[in-house]
Amino acid sequence: MGATTPQRAVSGSALAVGADAGEALLSLDDLTSLQRLTSFTAHEVRNPLAAMRAMVQLALATDDDDRRQELLRKVIYSIDDLSQFLTELVSLAGVQESMLVRLDVRPVIVEVMRLFAVQADLLNVRMTMRVPEGLPPVWGNAPLLRHAIMNLVKNSMEAMPRGGALTIAVKHLSDRNSVCIAIRDTGAGIPEERRTRLFTGVPDGRRGAGIGLPFVHHVITQVHRGTLRFESRVGVGTTFYLELLPATAPLAPGRPG
Ligand SMILES: Nc1ncnc2c1ncn2[C@@H]1O[C@H](COP(=O)(O)OP(=O)(O)OP(=O)(O)O)[C@@H](O)[C@H]1O
Ligand SMILES: [Mg+2]
Repeated sequence: MGATTPQRAVSGSALAVGADAGEALLSLDDLTSLQRLTSFTAHEVRNPLAAMRAMVQLALATDDDDRRQELLRKVIYSIDDLSQFLTELVSLAGVQESMLVRLDVRPVIVEVMRLFAVQADLLNVRMTMRVPEGLPPVWGNAPLLRHAIMNLVKNSMEAMPRGGALTIAVKHLSDRNSVCIAIRDTGAGIPEERRTRLFTGVPDGRRGAGIGLPFVHHVITQVHRGTLRFESRVGVGTTFYLELLPATAPLAPGRPG
């Protein structure tokens, strides 16, 4: 996973407002927080479960032993991914310390590309990855970062039903002291009227207020102490920028964000 040298950082997170040592754990925000955490969890677990079900069905249906082995290996990989992810979600709830480690972003991106390869082929989407040599590691949490990027890639795929190009490009922005992951698509773009509350929208099923982007925003800004922004042009495409802290200096302990 490319993670080295664990460093502990106290989990802050908007989901544990007022949860300093000795303080009452309950606050006015807790119900909303719990609802959000439950929504995040259901959202992130449902997709891999559906994918695993499809893989097991294919494995049962095939007479090709090699193909069956390959499918079952993918199921095991998905189970491991989910298991790691759920462990990290516990940290999001503020129940235990969140762990940010020195993380190489390349393997995280490679895994996301691998997970979406079949879907990209089906949708006629050309996926490209640009990660320069010599990139510094970031302070990151691999399972959460992977799921954040997966959400952005999924949105991009949904915006390109008739195919297109998806590029994940990473740059070290030394002047901004950040490592920037850009996820660019040639999809439909986000209309002006949908741009407000994309990151904070209450997940109530209305168009433009989903669960995916609030989850990504939380993971990037609260857990990783980074920033999330986007540029979009209707009919041309959208780019989401995730800026993360390079792990070139020790991570100061304390509440993220
Ligand atoms: N890359 C993109 N291109 C075009 N529209 C986008 C893109 N990313 C997000 N959007 C718009 O933002 C909306 C909110 O995205 P978000 O991921 O939060 O929820 P969702 O995709 O609708 O549902 P889910 O909660 O299952 O992710 C989308 O419905 C879509 O209209
Ligand atoms: Mg989405």
